[in-house]
Amino acid sequence: MLSAKTIYGEIFDNDEAFGLFCSIAASGEAQGGWENGKIAALVPGSQAGLAAKIARHGADEDKHGRIFNALLRKRGLEPVAVPAEVDYIMQLEAAGIGLAHARLRREEELTEADIVTYLAHSRVTEQRASEQMRTLLRHVGDHPDIGRAVRMISADEDNHLAYCHEELLRLATAGHGEVIRATLRAAALAEIAIHRDVSLAVMAHLGRILGWPRPKAAILAAGIRGAYACERLGGWRRMVSLRMPARRNALGGSVPAQTRHA
Ligand SMILES: [Fe+2]
Ligand SMILES: [Fe+2]
Repeated sequence: MLSAKTIYGEIFDNDEAFGLFCSIAASGEAQGGWENGKIAALVPGSQAGLAAKIARHGADEDKHGRIFNALLRKRGLEPVAVPAEVDYIMQLEAAGIGLAHARLRREEELTEADIVTYLAHSRVTEQRASEQMRTLLRHVGDHPDIGRAVRMISADEDNHLAYCHEELLRLATAGHGEVIRATLRAAALAEIAIHRDVSLAVMAHLGRILGWPRPKAAILAAGIRGAYACERLGGWRRMVSLRMPARRNALGGSVPAQTRHA
């Protein structure tokens, strides 16, 4: 039977596949944490009210990275190297989506336009994260350790998405509407292609580890390509809409001291 639940079951029952899955997830979360930590420290004076929320966002992503690493350790596994073709964050950065890492490393104060770029990038990637965590929750939510971890991360990703909606709407009202719309569109169209390519690469690695027969791998790859086709035909629009979230100020809490970035 080729259901998502069965596939996740296969991955989570195999040490090597589970190790790769958690390593990819941990690496993506940690990179997200690094980006947000840097951005929080470089927020321009006109957007000073955002700094604490961005720091909180970064702290959450760092925490997610630690959670995936803890799941590995609990199985007696070590994180493995993440191949470039499955590195979602680096591929987005290489495609010019979001703020360039070289720009963040220069440690120069960001502009208001940079903040728009950051928030539009996050609006798109947090939608993906929120949806992926909900999917994972549906299929592995009843697993004792993984279910608890995914439930916590899923709630955080929903908050990150709510925060992006709220802050982008605020900036749209402040006159950035046109740039926001164009930036969101570019980010979403790039993201859906990168998501497809990364998903195909992840599936290829897992298929090799789990010894999937060729027809099974082909069906799964066709599913990924089909999902991309739906997103390209119009599904991408769900990633660029802006709606005031039911939960306001979702990242308004304080940042745990040990996760603050220098
Ligand atoms: Fe996360
Ligand atoms: Fe997130």
